[in-house]
Amino acid sequence: MARQDLRGKVAIVTGASSGVGWQAAVRLGEAGVKLCITARRAEALEQLRHELQARGVECIAVPGDVTVQGDVDQVVRECLTHYGRVDLLVNDAGVQSYGLFDELPWEHITRIFDINCFGFMRFARAVMPHFRARGSGHILNIQSMLSKGSAPLLSAYSASKHATLGWAKSLELELMGTGIQVSNILVPSVASNMFAHAPTMFGLAPQPVPPTYDPDMVARAVVRCARRPGRTVVPVFLQGKLVLWLNELFPWVGRFIMGHWGARMQMREEPVERRDGNLFHAMPEGVGPYGPVPPTPRWKRISAAAGLAALMGGLLVGVAGLTRAAR
Ligand SMILES: NC(=O)c1ccc[n+]([C@@H]2O[C@H](COP(=O)([O-])OP(=O)(O)OC[C@H]3O[C@@H](n4cnc5c(N)ncnc54)[C@H](OP(=O)(O)O)[C@@H]3O)[C@@H](O)[C@H]2O)c1
Repeated sequence: MARQDLRGKVAIVTGASSGVGWQAAVRLGEAGVKLCITARRAEALEQLRHELQARGVECIAVPGDVTVQGDVDQVVRECLTHYGRVDLLVNDAGVQSYGLFDELPWEHITRIFDINCFGFMRFARAVMPHFRARGSGHILNIQSMLSKGSAPLLSAYSASKHATLGWAKSLELELMGTGIQVSNILVPSVASNMFAHAPTMFGLAPQPVPPTYDPDMVARAVVRCARRPGRTVVPVFLQGKLVLWLNELFPWVGRFIMGHWGARMQMREEPVERRDGNLFHAMPEGVGPYGPVPPTPRWKRISAAAGLAALMGGLLVGVAGLTRAAR
């Protein structure tokens, strides 16, 4: 598809009070998009709205909860009333909870689905009548590497992201030829507030599986995707394309590493009591794009990529040698 000019387009961005959603709104605004930002924390949205307006970006803020149908309808209604149109929906709002599957409270599991999966669907259904009437529109979903992969302690989150990708891929087929596009961005670990917001059953602060990227990397991918819609994008090499190839070719490697060390990798030696985190109510702290743990420095990511590529090369050579010997 030809590159689209984003100037004057209107986007709804959910989850805009922190992390990827915040930064995506900033980058879309820079690209000339008019914004309708939403999340539960009204004060954080106001802060972002002021920052955007100071840069000359038109923006309205409509607080709401993605699990409440009335709130979702209200966001879309106010966007249409103010701008008369919506061109792009960035589905971003998401939560996670750390715990062994059988120790996670059942309410955490259902709530994660209600936000991560049904929240995306609610917003898509709310904008679709408008998209269908105009014969154009774009639903851009912030997915995860865990939409395809798996990790211990995050079974409910991973299941919700798999479900959301499955829904999005089916929707894409249904909408073929209608002018409405569906895109997905498979996000690796990013240094957002998600880990400071998430409940944990372990009494230790959760942390992302390394390496961790800058949320701005995802925000820039959002803008690229908005310009060229209709794709499922893996925006990074190391914790993206390389990991997917490795899982495809040698699934036992990832299984071995994550099975043995995956749980440990996701906890910091910092005591934390956070039973419900931001699941049922927003947490006042953790506003803005960045969380407490900085992204992994570039040189470390490059060294890790080189190590992983060497491992894959070694495995391929070994498999080829064994195949030849067996002939
Ligand atoms: N961080 C990562 O490593 C990572 C990796 C892969 C994918 N992702 C995906 O990236 C997206 C954004 O996550 P993030 O890292 O930016 O985390 P974050 O900083 O915690 O942001 C999550 C956003 O979702 C909003 N939200 C949560 N529950 C909500 C609800 N019930 N209703 C409305 N808004 C709600 C939060 O705002 P309020 O609390 O103000 O409502 C916040 O704005 C998620 O879809 C996540 O799955 C993140």
